Amino acid sequence: MNFADSEIVASILTKADYEVTKDISDADYILINTCAIRDNAEQRIRKRLHELKALQRQRQWVKIGILGCMAERLQKQLMEEEDNVSFIVGPDAYRKLPEMLQNINGDEKLAETLLSTTETYADIEPVRYDSNGITAYISIMRGCQNYCAYCVVPYTRGRERSRDPQTIVNEARELFEKGYREVTLLGQNVNSYRWQCDGGEVEFPLLMARVAEVSPLLRVRFATSHPKDLSDDLLQVMAQYDNICKCIHLPVQSGSERMLKLMNRHYTPEWYLNRIEAIRKYLPECSITTDVIAGFCTETEEDHQDTLEMFRKVRYDYAYMFKFSMRPNTYAAKHLSDDVPDVVKTRRLEEIIALQGQIALENNQKEIDRTYEVLIEGVSHRSEQQLFGRNSQNKVIVFDRGELQPGQYTTVRVTRCTSATLIGEVVDNK
Ligand code: 5AD
Ligand code: SF4
Repeated sequence: MNFADSEIVASILTKADYEVTKDISDADYILINTCAIRDNAEQRIRKRLHELKALQRQRQWVKIGILGCMAERLQKQLMEEEDNVSFIVGPDAYRKLPEMLQNINGDEKLAETLLSTTETYADIEPVRYDSNGITAYISIMRGCQNYCAYCVVPYTRGRERSRDPQTIVNEARELFEKGYREVTLLGQNVNSYRWQCDGGEVEFPLLMARVAEVSPLLRVRFATSHPKDLSDDLLQVMAQYDNICKCIHLPVQSGSERMLKLMNRHYTPEWYLNRIEAIRKYLPECSITTDVIAGFCTETEEDHQDTLEMFRKVRYDYAYMFKFSMRPNTYAAKHLSDDVPDVVKTRRLEEIIALQGQIALENNQKEIDRTYEVLIEGVSHRSEQQLFGRNSQNKVIVFDRGELQPGQYTTVRVTRCTSATLIGEVVDNK
């Protein structure tokens, strides 16, 4: 999400005759796009700001701006606390940036943090400034109003709004024509994508179909699905199109019914497992990934065991695993107490990580001898002689380079694996 936002900011500023530089010591303005979702994300930004003071001593005219969720959350307080920040811009105010940069003089500080109910930046063609030229993100909606009890996003990114589907399809087509071979449609809860116009209504399954029809050679992914809204209609559309990737990120957050209720997630473990069953039915080869939080308010040992049990039942291919951190303004901050001691949170998180590591390894071992179509993304970090790409299930596969180039499709047979990577050999060089 943040990466997609940075590309929008780069586009707005490029149009106003600013240039993006890869070399920070060459920059006149340093814009830091921030996340507020967990406390440690914010601490990292503060550390980075501190480190940048040395650069500012050398180049005293350099102005630093904070963009995105942390700016929205802390507003002017952030500039009071961090004396080297000159301007802050919330996620719905990026269009104001050129005017702000023009108006920043001397020690003046500027803030634009108004949230919008309509801004989707639909007309802005993002500048893909740090791209591999093969895979790209397309933001299809903004905001979230699910109000999960632990989550700050509804407060920092405002109300949910969908982007005009025609602009999304056009963006996908333009990317394909430029040589891109994979797009990921992004939103906090893509399943509630909805666009109404005179010609009728477009919901997410139809949007996916339209993007998939741009070309059979363009892979389409999406993130993130909320389990409460994952429909059979979407699974059927996914089954219909070979180029819609068979990978679903379905954040579970907890395996305990009580925790899910307290988290305001609007589903039970039973409902969640029913959705997993539906995925397996329509898309037997689909990989499933998740997010989970260890140590949410009042979580008991039994709740934690329910989460481990959920992991054993679903057998995720990958999981983003977090320790709960209380975020200001949320329902949890206002009504619950952060009462699981940090050592307990850490231990529970480690147990989840260990279990998931084992499951991912076992899942990958089952991949040995299977053959996949792989979209080649680049040269392997380990060796110049090897390339890496992903299969439809989003698993990374490394193999010998031969005559192949990034951006091509090839067929690879898996021969070995670790818990994170498949290693294979090319069986078809067409
Ligand atoms: N503490 C820990 N993890 C959180 N997430 C969201 N808010 C918090 C929080 N306060 C996690 C959820 C979400 C992912 C993007 O971040 O698992 O799905
Ligand atoms: Fe946060 Fe819940 Fe919205 Fe995801 S669905 S962004 S966890 S409030």
